[in-house]
Amino acid sequence: MVQTAQRIEWKVRFVDYPAQFRKMETEIMETIRTVLEQGDLILRHQLRDFEERLAAFVGTQFAVGTSNCTDALHLSLRAAGIGAGDEVITVSHTFVATAAAIHHVGATPILADIGDDHNIDVKLVEQAVTQRTKAILPVHLNGRLCDMEHLMSVAKRHNLIVIEDSAQALGASFKGKRGGSFGLAGCFSFYPAKLLGAFGDAGAMTTNDETIAQKVRSLRDHGRNNLGGVDGWSFNCRMDNLQAALLNLKMEKLSAWIERRRQIARLYHERLLPIQELRLPPLSDSDGIYYDVFQNYEIEAKERNALVRFLKNKGIEVLIPWGGKGVHQFKNLGLSEFHLPRTERLFQEVLLLPLHPELSDNQIEYVSDAIHEFYHR
Ligand SMILES: Cc1ncc(COP(=O)(O)O)c(C=O)c1O
Repeated sequence: MVQTAQRIEWKVRFVDYPAQFRKMETEIMETIRTVLEQGDLILRHQLRDFEERLAAFVGTQFAVGTSNCTDALHLSLRAAGIGAGDEVITVSHTFVATAAAIHHVGATPILADIGDDHNIDVKLVEQAVTQRTKAILPVHLNGRLCDMEHLMSVAKRHNLIVIEDSAQALGASFKGKRGGSFGLAGCFSFYPAKLLGAFGDAGAMTTNDETIAQKVRSLRDHGRNNLGGVDGWSFNCRMDNLQAALLNLKMEKLSAWIERRRQIARLYHERLLPIQELRLPPLSDSDGIYYDVFQNYEIEAKERNALVRFLKNKGIEVLIPWGGKGVHQFKNLGLSEFHLPRTERLFQEVLLLPLHPELSDNQIEYVSDAIHEFYHR
């Protein structure tokens, strides 16, 4: 590793944007040129095409492109009528954006602890339901869906809305049904590091409910409707047309990229399984229920901080997610009343290994060998 004040030359990057650009450079530049030559910049056919493609991929009737996933969550909650006085059950083991979307509609996030697969512990959801509960917002973390059968049955029993945070789970399925197609809405992120990454921020919501789709379409565009009127006070949360055009291009590679991610996860699994000090994510498909897309390879590691230093010294870019804290552990958010032992314990040992489609088998071996070396030192 060559380290300068400005830049670290990683041997294995966490995400390799330049490598992906090199592979697709001609198509990317052609797409940008076409969009610019045509002057198709805001709410044009490239966005409509992308929305159609996304809806078909997820298995819903509608998709609406937004500026990012946080806005997709915020607008979906708003369109569903969730607001002041309502409670929404979600997790603390997530990006702050999930809880922020709930906060911004005036509702209260109720945080449940996680299970063995690091997603919401569905057994705890029902215990968290009160008179004020309006919705469940499951987060499909790391490319693995929550147990949607159990969650949907709890939602049905208590007449709750379900809005899925599918930011990390494009293409993942549970019993053959894709994430983002179970609840009233599914929300996706196309942040550059995501499975399908834009060249900046972008997001979308998916739904089978035409009214909700129409509401979000209006909410993302200043509350405007098709008749030139304004339905109410709103926001500017549109997806840029240029990003939509680039996402259309990348969508063609998505299935191959997912396959490669799953292959890499299998390779890590094979190589790291003998290390007693690690806890690995479940092997996808081992039970025929979960099809995981491995947005991240999230492990639990003894002596985590020393391991991180060791790997970084070897030029391996690993990440401790979200600064090593659950949402309720950020004091300024006012959620400190939650005590979530499994989430808190996880954040002491959690670590993300590099996983992206451009990663070579040699790099996976290098990372795995370095971890073996650390524990046998
Ligand atoms: C689980 C989860 N939810 C929400 C978001 C927010 O997505 P965006 O950055 O597109 O707003 C992210 C993005 O990192 C995420 O990982």
